[in-house]
Amino acid sequence: MRSFEGSLLSYVKYSKTLKSNVIRLDANENYFADIEFLKATFMEALKEVDLRLYDPSMTFKLRKALAKYLDVAPECVGVGSGSEHLIDFVIQSFLTRGDVALSIVPSFFMYAKRVRLRGAELVTVSLKEDLSLDVDKILKNCSNKTKLIFVCSPNNPTGNQFSWHDIETLAESCSALIVVDEAYAEFGDGSVCSKAVEKENIVVVRTFSKAFGLAGLRFGYFAANENLASALSKVIPYTVSTLVSCFVVKLLNKFEVVKGWINEVKKERKRLMKRLGSLDEIEVFDSKTNFVTFRLDGNADKIYKGLLDRGIVIKNLGALPVIGHCLRVTVGFPYMNNNFLDTLTQVMREEFSA
Ligand SMILES: Cc1ncc(COP(=O)(O)O)c(C=O)c1O
Repeated sequence: MRSFEGSLLSYVKYSKTLKSNVIRLDANENYFADIEFLKATFMEALKEVDLRLYDPSMTFKLRKALAKYLDVAPECVGVGSGSEHLIDFVIQSFLTRGDVALSIVPSFFMYAKRVRLRGAELVTVSLKEDLSLDVDKILKNCSNKTKLIFVCSPNNPTGNQFSWHDIETLAESCSALIVVDEAYAEFGDGSVCSKAVEKENIVVVRTFSKAFGLAGLRFGYFAANENLASALSKVIPYTVSTLVSCFVVKLLNKFEVVKGWINEVKKERKRLMKRLGSLDEIEVFDSKTNFVTFRLDGNADKIYKGLLDRGIVIKNLGALPVIGHCLRVTVGFPYMNNNFLDTLTQVMREEFSA
């Protein structure tokens, strides 16, 4: 869900007057995904399926294709309508009122929201200064009421990826279920899926919204130990249509094309980080994702608003533990990033000379 943090009016006013000139770099969508290729592949799927029928064989094909992609057994894979939907079901399955879930901070805001909606308590543990997991502190904060631990890796918004060693230590040292959110894994240094399925208390949640450029499709999946995957699959309603299943299988069979988009994002990310880092008063965090988070010496709110007023929508993260008040920008096409960088330079010049 997009949020414009109180600047909605400003955004709406601007987008009404300058609709086509607004550049949206706030939601970590993937502009590099070739829309014509996606549409053509979707049409191939549409021609192939018979939507009048329930088709369990397509579900099987889907799980098999995802299993091959993740290098795990098909029995370890489950699917749903986006990773947010799956995370919500994990929460509903494992937490009741009075239970506790733990999340690292800063991290994806959605965990806190969903846990509280469930009537459970959320305990937060800050990352270390170097942004690594504070495994000791997480374990110290666990009790027999702690049922879930959220580890987003690569992490939104810090952009870094955590080591398998740390995730494994957490799983082996407590009885809570470790929920590893790998929404951005394709842009990073690989997945923990094939190792995670060996453990009884890890579920890895993934999505087609980022690397595959399909935020609007609403398709997510998870990998877990066979017993856990089958238990979860029983409680998660089957919301993935035959059409979407067939489309996803086709895309996985053409992964070389998707890989090309991922490489383009990584190349452009490197350029964006370098140019951002060359600006005075800006500290850029390394990124294993399709966004770049940066801290400004000065008034981040004003810079954010200045960009918004000029039609550049990025994410104002607000003041966060460990990293302070940061802004986050999606890696867009080079022309979008150049526009953002030029406008940022102009807004900062005006702000800092005022
Ligand atoms: C870390 C993280 N997890 C999950 C999601 C939600 O993804 P989906 O579109 O699959 O629900 C997002 C969306 O931005 C995200 O940043």
